Amino acid sequence: MRVVVAGGAGFLGSHLCDRLLLDGEEVVCIDNFLTGRKSNVEHLLDRPGFELLEQDVAERVEVAGTVDAVLEFASPASPLDYARYPIETLKAGAHGTLNTLDLARAKGARFLLASTSEVYGDPLVHPQEESYWGHVNPIGPRSMYDEAKRFAEALTTAYRNRHGLDTAIIRIFNTYGPRMRTDDGRAIPAFVSQALRGEPVTVAGDGMQTRSVCYVDDLVEGIVRMLRSGLPGPVNLGNPHEMTIIDTARLVVELIGSDAPITFVPRPGDDPMVRRPDITLARQQLGWEPVVDVRDGLVRTIEWFASELATEATGRTGA
Ligand SMILES: NC(=O)c1ccc[n+]([C@@H]2O[C@H](COP(=O)([O-])OP(=O)(O)OC[C@H]3O[C@@H](n4cnc5c(N)ncnc54)[C@H](O)[C@@H]3O)[C@@H](O)[C@H]2O)c1
Repeated sequence: MRVVVAGGAGFLGSHLCDRLLLDGEEVVCIDNFLTGRKSNVEHLLDRPGFELLEQDVAERVEVAGTVDAVLEFASPASPLDYARYPIETLKAGAHGTLNTLDLARAKGARFLLASTSEVYGDPLVHPQEESYWGHVNPIGPRSMYDEAKRFAEALTTAYRNRHGLDTAIIRIFNTYGPRMRTDDGRAIPAFVSQALRGEPVTVAGDGMQTRSVCYVDDLVEGIVRMLRSGLPGPVNLGNPHEMTIIDTARLVVELIGSDAPITFVPRPGDDPMVRRPDITLARQQLGWEPVVDVRDGLVRTIEWFASELATEATGRTGA
């Protein structure tokens, strides 16, 4: 199978490229490096079956040859990133999804959209199941991302209904692991890099808001199962193990063995109070559920960040 991974040099996309190549698939990675890094796929550049194309999917998508599947992951994904790139985020969700859908249609390929739990907004239903329509502020500080993804879901659905395209929608809940950027602003990379540097660990609000975090290997397994299932979705993929943000911060500090203090900063606008996926559908239809315990996943993530920060420090001192 020849698979196009749009956004393939990002956190999730690069893990997906690794996994697909390991399974014997050919991979065409497309990225414009807006929020991702070439270094995430550097180790794949000489691998037979891997190709890297620098393209902005919001402008054009050109892939020669046959394509069996198109995975649309190209979008800023962290609140800091999409606040920094609001128009780019909306264009990625709208034009990027349109262009990658057109590629899938032209090639007769299956199309898989990486949507998000953010389509549920600040949810009034808990846990969130796929039938919930969401509670989203269309002009709020997260609207460029939430509405871009809601539009992308609608467009994907229209292509399925109007053109009979084989499409799939997954709604990804907070995922963490190696290759997140230290400066991407999401809670786990922020806590880990702060604690490793011995800086105060900054928790938003009183830290009683909850998140359910999924280790990247678990998520990638769910994505691959969805890709091969032929199902349309939408299907939630995430870890239903719910934790408060303050407990997550405490666990990170404990696992690092750091004496960094935990301090409190104002909560950003429209920050969801609760977040937990109902994964009944994924369990039933894909036989999937996360298996990596949060402590194990955090230890692997901490190890990776520790080596990243060491490399950064070496670069700074020129050692
Ligand atoms: N990580 C999560 O917890 C999570 C949760 C829900 C949904 N998602 C979705 O998964 C996808 C990947 O997220 P991530 O966490 O890996 O983020 P990321 O920022 O690490 O990856 C996104 C990649 O897309 C690229 N990109 C952005 N705009 C582009 C464009 N116009 N053309 C080509 N490439 C472009 C970026 O350079 C980057 O490499 C996103 O669509 C995101 O919305 C992620």
